[in-house]
This record gives sequence, structure tokens and C-alpha cells, in this order.
Amino acid sequence: MTLVTKFTEAFGVEHPIAQGGMQWVGRAELVAAVANAGGLGFLTALTQPTPADLANEIAKTRDLTDKPFGVNLTILPSITPPPYDEYRQVIVDAGIKIVETAGSNPGPHLPMFHDNGIKVLHKCTSVRHAVKAQTLGVDGISIDGFECAGHPGEDDVPGLVLIPAAAKEIEIPMIASGGFGDARGLVAALALGADGINMGTRFMCTVESCIHQNVKEAIVAGDERGTELIFRSLHNTARVASNAVSREVVQILAGGGQFEDVKDLVAGVRGRKVFEDGDIDAGIWTAGTVMGLIHDIPTVADLITRIVDEAEDIIIGRLADMVVLDEEEKASA
Ligand SMILES: Cc1cc2nc3c(=O)[nH]c(=O)nc-3n(C[C@H](O)[C@H](O)[C@H](O)COP(=O)(O)O)c2cc1C
Repeated sequence: MTLVTKFTEAFGVEHPIAQGGMQWVGRAELVAAVANAGGLGFLTALTQPTPADLANEIAKTRDLTDKPFGVNLTILPSITPPPYDEYRQVIVDAGIKIVETAGSNPGPHLPMFHDNGIKVLHKCTSVRHAVKAQTLGVDGISIDGFECAGHPGEDDVPGLVLIPAAAKEIEIPMIASGGFGDARGLVAALALGADGINMGTRFMCTVESCIHQNVKEAIVAGDERGTELIFRSLHNTARVASNAVSREVVQILAGGGQFEDVKDLVAGVRGRKVFEDGDIDAGIWTAGTVMGLIHDIPTVADLITRIVDEAEDIIIGRLADMVVLDEEEKASA
């Protein structure tokens, strides 16, 4: 049995499960493992220090899988922006056929991607941005609820409402993101009108994810209250793991502090050290509320197989068993 949806058909993957871009985490080993297991994995372009390094990482991924995979291009406002055009050129030249855009309007990047036969899955956190992206001509939407790791936006609408509200407006394939980690989430997303799910935190906590074992164990030990929302007052909210550093950042900003006052605490280099050295209090690291549903560190293949198999059991077992025909319906069946 397989679950066939508009998403699996449009993006040419076996299962309706994507692994979204993750800074410092979305590297070749994880992405190839997701691809080999029949999901859609995305390398994170900006994890690579230069466009040339991205080309090498794409080549490395191709050595590990012959299945389709994509590249995430996160476009965030920055004082010194990375050379987006050069990263985009590498994606095109490498023959990548699927890109996940996130962070801001994908419009400026679409003509070049589409001219080169690349499908664009745009990740956003509100119905209005999803509608805008659909109007611009993207090929799929990943709608990211308030539960998510990373940037949930400023509207604070969780998936239970955001997904069906988006499904009402979105006609192209749409996957649901934020807070997904198991089969129940996948079935719920399908019931709410999505064509699949996108997961970040759950994939961080797998054998093939390249981060330090201490971080994976911290995720397993954590529960659904284990995150903080930083940068609220700066209107650039980010959901990150709760630790000594993130709690200090929240406190400083809540007391009227400005970015300058927390700049050193939130430095990317400190967050990167968490993943590399395993000191979970060394800096800010991203994780979502789904931590409360993560209890193990499986291989990617075991995780994806488990989610799909259990989802099928829920649909044709538990849910189907709840539908009981009344006498009149039985007579006419
Ligand atoms: C460690 C980490 C880093 C992330 N970095 C990025 C990023 O660079 N670009 C991006 O578009 N999303 C990023 N995300 C968000 C994920 O792609 C995904 O949307 C999110 O994790 C979904 O929520 P979940 O963690 O509840 O599954 C990151 C998530 C995590 C956990």
C-alpha cells in the first residue's frame, strides 16, 4: 500500500513527507537518507559557506542517492546578504529540479527556476502569503503553523486552524508543516486538507542527522514546553530550544532591550557550536514544540516507514472502524 496525494504526484516522491531546510542540519547524509526512504529532502543552501561548497554538497548527496532531492533557499533580510544569485545559479547548474523557498517573497527567483524546469515549493506561515505565492505561480505550498521550529511569523495561528484555512484558498499541492512527528500528525494533516507533511525537528533527531548526540538526546528528554519564542518585540519571532541563553534573550528583550543587547548571545557561531560540540547551553539552537512527541532516535528509513505504515493503519483501521452504517444504510448497501 502507498499513500498517493497531489504532493507525491506533483513532486515525484513515494511518500507525502518532506524534510525542510535546516541551517547546520540539512546536509548530504540526512537529505540522501530521506530521499532513499522515499521522502523529499532538502539541502540547506546557506549552511554551505560558499556557492562552490553547495555544488560540492549536491555532488556528495548524489553519491549517496539516485532518488530526487531538493535545495532550500532561505531568503531573510540581512545587513550583509549572502550572494543569493550565485547560490541560485549553482542550484540551476547542478540540475536540481526542486527548490524550497522560505523567508520572503519567492517572486524574484521564480523566472529563473521555472525557465530551468525547477519546481518551487514555497514555505510560509500565513494564508495571505500562501495565496500570494500561489498567484505568483509557485508549484506547491508548505504552510508552517505556530508550533514550528524556526520562524513562525507574527500571527500565532497554530496548524489546527491554519491548515484548513489555507486549504480553502490553495488549489496547488500543499503540505502542512510545524508540529509533525508521527503518523497521527500525518493523518490529521490529510484530514485538515493538506497533501502531506513537512518535518524539521523530528528529522534532526535521527541517526543520519549530523548534529551531536547530546542535542538529539536533549530533544528526546524535552517535552512540548521545551521551546522559547525569541525576538518577539523585534517582530522577527523565532522558536528555539529553551536553554540558559534563549531564556536570557527573552528576558533582556522583554525588559526593553534591543537587538544590540542580545547580538552576542544569539550569534550564529555559538548556535553552530551546540550542534558540533554538544554543549546544549553554548548558544541558540532551533527546535519546535513537537519535541514533546519525539521519544527515540531512529534511522530515517525506520522513521518514514513507521509514519507511513501507521498512518495507513489509522486510516483503514481506527478511523474506518468508527464509521458504522445505520440499518437503512445497511439495507441499501
Ligand atoms: C535546526 C533547524 C534549523 C532550521 N533552519 C531553517 C532554515 O534555514 N530555513 C528554513 O526555511 N527553515 C528552517 N527550519 C524550519 C524547518 O524547515 C521546518 O519548517 C520546521 O522545522 C517545521 O517545524 P517542526 O520542527 O515542528 O517540524 C529549521 C528548523 C530546524 C529544526
